[in-house]
Amino acid sequence: MNIDKKLINSFVKSTERAAYEASIFKGKNDKIAADQAAVDGMRRELNKIHMKGKIVIGEGELDEAPMLYINEEVGTKNGEEFDIAVDPLEGTNFTAKNLPNALSVLAVSRKGNLLHAPDIYMEKIAIGSGFPKNLIDLDFKVEKNVKLLAEAKKTTPEKLSVCVLDRPRHDSIIKSLKLMGVKINFISDGDVSGAISVGYTKSRIDMYIGIGGGPEGVLAAAALSCMNCQMQTRLVFQNIDEENRAKKLGITNFKKKYNIEDMVKGDVIFCATGVTDGDFVKGIIDIDDSYKSETLVLHKSSKTNKIFKNHSKK
Ligand code: FBP
Repeated sequence: MNIDKKLINSFVKSTERAAYEASIFKGKNDKIAADQAAVDGMRRELNKIHMKGKIVIGEGELDEAPMLYINEEVGTKNGEEFDIAVDPLEGTNFTAKNLPNALSVLAVSRKGNLLHAPDIYMEKIAIGSGFPKNLIDLDFKVEKNVKLLAEAKKTTPEKLSVCVLDRPRHDSIIKSLKLMGVKINFISDGDVSGAISVGYTKSRIDMYIGIGGGPEGVLAAAALSCMNCQMQTRLVFQNIDEENRAKKLGITNFKKKYNIEDMVKGDVIFCATGVTDGDFVKGIIDIDDSYKSETLVLHKSSKTNKIFKNHSKK
C-alpha cells in the first residue's frame, strides 16, 4: 500500500526543525552539540505525527543513544505503522566548521520495508537511471564498472565523473580511476549527498563508489529508489562485535550484496533539509523569530521530486 501524500508535510517539518536546531551550531566547532540539537528537534516533530512509527536506522542502540535509538517508537503511537530511517545531522563536521552540504535527512516506508542496517561501514556503488538492469556490480573491478557505464552512455571513461569520499581506504579505487582518465569528484564527508547526485543530471556525477556509513547507504537507496537509479551495497564487517550487532537486526548473510529493492521495498518518502548551503538545497536562513528552509522531497508513488521552500516560526 502506498503512503498518503498528505503525510509528506509532517515529515518535512521534522527535517526542517532538525536542520534549524543544528544550524544554531554552524561554525561553533562543536559537532556533538550540533548533532544533539538536530536529534532533539527531529524527535519532537516526529512525535507530533499521527502514526505508529519505529526508528529502524537511528542514532544507535538504546544503551548508546537515548533518543531516536533503533527500535524507538515515535509518533502519537496510534494510526498507520511506518519504519523510519533518520540521520538528523548528515555532515556533523560540515556544520561544526560551517562548510557546505550539511543536511538533515529521513526516509519513511511502510512497516518492514527498510533494511535494518547496523551503524557500520558499507561498500556502495550507484549510477543514474535508464541503464540496463544490474549493469554494475561490486564484484567487478572498478575498471569494468567504469567501462560498462561508459559503453551504456555511449561515451569514453575520460568523459565520466565519479564521486568518491576522500579517504585512504579508497586509494586503490582512486588509482584505477586516475589510470582510466576518469574525473574524480572528491568529497570530504556527506556521502548521502554524494550518492544521490547520480540521480540529477545537473550535478554531472555519473557514478558514486566507495565505502561509507551503512545508515547513509540505506538513506541514499531510499532517494535513488524514487528516481529509478541503480545502487548496490554490501556491509563491511571489521570485528565480531559488528557481526553481533548485525545479527541482532536479523542479518545472517554477512556477504550479501543488496540492490535497491533489497534495501527499500514499496513506497517511500525521502526528505533532506539543508543546514548549510549545498549541492541540492540552500541552508537555513535565520530571520528574527522565524527561519527559511529548503528541503529536497522525493515520494515514489506520487512521483514527487521537488524542493519545498518554507518559512516557519521558531
Ligand atoms: P557524520 O555526519 O555522522 O559525521 O557522517 C559523515 C560521513 O561523511 C557520512 O556521510 C559517511 O557515510 C561517513 O561519515 C563516512 O565515515 P568516515 O568519516 O568514518 O569515513
